Amino acid sequence: MFDIQRFNGVIYGADYNPEQWPREIWAEDARLMQEAGVNLVSLGIFSWALLERTEGNFDFGWLDEIMDLLHAHGVDVNLATATASPPPWFSLQYPDSRPVTADGVRLEVGGRQLYCPSHPALRDGAARLTRALATRYAQHPALKLWHINNEYGCHIDQCYCEHCARRFRAWLERRYGSIDALNGAWGTAFWSQHYITWAEIQPPRRAPTYANPTQQLDWRRFSSDNILELHTMERAILAEITPDVPATTNFLGFLPGLDYFRWAQEEDVVSLDAYPDPGSDLAHLDAGMAFDLTRSLGGGARWILMEQATSAVNWRLRNAPKPPGQMRLLNHLALARGASGIMFFQWRASRAGAEKFHSGLVQHVGQQRSRVWREVTAFGAELRRLTPLLAAGVPARVALMFDWHSWWALNIDSKPAALPLLPLVARWYAALKALGQNVDFVPPHGDLGGYDVVVLPNLYLMADETASALRAFVERGGHLVSGYFTGIVDAQEHIHLGGYGAPISDVLGLWVEEWDVLLPGQTNTVAWAGRDPVTVTDWCDVIHLQGAQAQATFTDRFYAGQPAMTRHTFGQGQAWYVGTELPPSALQGLLGEVLQGAGVPLTVLPAHVDLTVSALPEGAQVLHLLNAHATDPVSLRIPDGGVLFPGGEAAGTTLTLPPYGVTLVQYPQAVTVADVQVL
Ligand code: GAL
Repeated sequence: MFDIQRFNGVIYGADYNPEQWPREIWAEDARLMQEAGVNLVSLGIFSWALLERTEGNFDFGWLDEIMDLLHAHGVDVNLATATASPPPWFSLQYPDSRPVTADGVRLEVGGRQLYCPSHPALRDGAARLTRALATRYAQHPALKLWHINNEYGCHIDQCYCEHCARRFRAWLERRYGSIDALNGAWGTAFWSQHYITWAEIQPPRRAPTYANPTQQLDWRRFSSDNILELHTMERAILAEITPDVPATTNFLGFLPGLDYFRWAQEEDVVSLDAYPDPGSDLAHLDAGMAFDLTRSLGGGARWILMEQATSAVNWRLRNAPKPPGQMRLLNHLALARGASGIMFFQWRASRAGAEKFHSGLVQHVGQQRSRVWREVTAFGAELRRLTPLLAAGVPARVALMFDWHSWWALNIDSKPAALPLLPLVARWYAALKALGQNVDFVPPHGDLGGYDVVVLPNLYLMADETASALRAFVERGGHLVSGYFTGIVDAQEHIHLGGYGAPISDVLGLWVEEWDVLLPGQTNTVAWAGRDPVTVTDWCDVIHLQGAQAQATFTDRFYAGQPAMTRHTFGQGQAWYVGTELPPSALQGLLGEVLQGAGVPLTVLPAHVDLTVSALPEGAQVLHLLNAHATDPVSLRIPDGGVLFPGGEAAGTTLTLPPYGVTLVQYPQAVTVADVQVL
């Protein structure tokens, strides 16, 4: 179990790569870390090549030295298992440990993450290094956390080599038991794809045309599970040697390749790397969505922001800096959404290598002349006063259902239209945030019991169990909102027959006969009682009611007069359906109606104002009010009776947040967001 008490207050620190610097810098680094308020650094993430110079021969001298130095300066260590990038000698000694792309290209030495997750020597090598590190540092007083590998699946989330092909077949045999069952699941009667033996089955390598969709979906599932095996292997070694030291691996939010709801079960604490584009007006929404996902992956537990940039990154085409104040704002956002730790990549900006233009706490100009340094030290000092937040929860009455399997299935080629899921999810998420809601993400198998409202922007793949869970949720009084192209296929990616949306057709009170995919530039119009007509794009369902009531209807094209949005009373609850792509204001209007109907308090906020309500023990609550606007202040009315947090001065009933301003207000009891208003 993870206990934040192991650490000295809110975790503050960075990836630290002392091996890139001469020894005289190390002492200065340790001193500067103290000055910045750093209490934890991640060490050794890319050190394999310097720790194991030839197979089985370890050199821990430099690591011993730096661990001792850090400890002497009161800085704890998040020690990497150092397996993120095998050394060149390894890749040359085991040439087939280099991963292969779908086109059959074996990748070359010179970058990072150059390994096939299935290769026996890679697995042995990772185990050997993990065991050696754990044994050597088990008793070291600086060791507080294990950092397993690094960003699994960031560059290589699928390897198409023969080792992987063999493991894929074994995975399929375990899943299906017989080749007949596989033929059934994959629908191989189509296009002469019937398999006689397991040996014929290949990864979905580059083929003349569309590879079998279920083969592609199972391949995604296998690839996530296969990489997870590497992780659980290392974790088991650490648990054996250092049972009291918690372990994590850094996630990447909405990373396409890994089913993080499954992965999170293997973490003592969930951690996240987040690099929203500082140049985007939506940086706080992108970051906030990843933060809410991360908390949700850990079942609501607090989590660690393991990496972010102090300012610019190096890997976009244009790398905007974080202007003064934005770093602090985004870190407050993380704390509001449940972070217990605020870490950066990296401590000292590199002098050489591909990331030399990536910001660090210590910039190339040196600390004395750097505004980034002034900001990180000021934030380090501020964090010391925020320790009570470590006990806060983030209670949500609204959940957004998200599923990697459905995302994989939706992304497979040959659909009515290419539907990128994340922008769609982001639009629904932004609408809920603009209504002042705390939002959880929930997987299809998650517990819906605590929520009043569950939204499914899209759940293309819906297993029968998911349909049952949604049915039970609405029957018991829950409010469900489903977007279009939901409930279309089962877990094998076969169509649910009998009208689209069939698995929850009874809950929604409708069936969908067909859809009208609109081309770029084409629109339809929706007439919505009591509101202005709404111009809609991309997709229009042809809906037939079967108990639901139309809330709005299409006015154009061959289904004019038929429903666009519906509402159905089912059991004690309500099920809403949105059969088209609404513009943001209309989506927000609809979700506002749903929240009102569900008795969930709401307010209406502009996109640059971020509100989170966190709950302290014994009933107190904190409003986290953030102005993400770079140049304009915002004034707010807030409930009476609050005190500024920390500090304790009376907060009054109005306040003004400057650009990138943050104010936390604590109340002795629960607050309602309806009492927060932008003036
Ligand atoms: C992360 C990675 C770090 C560094 C950083 C740069 O993906 O874990 O090692 O590369 O990005 O933004």
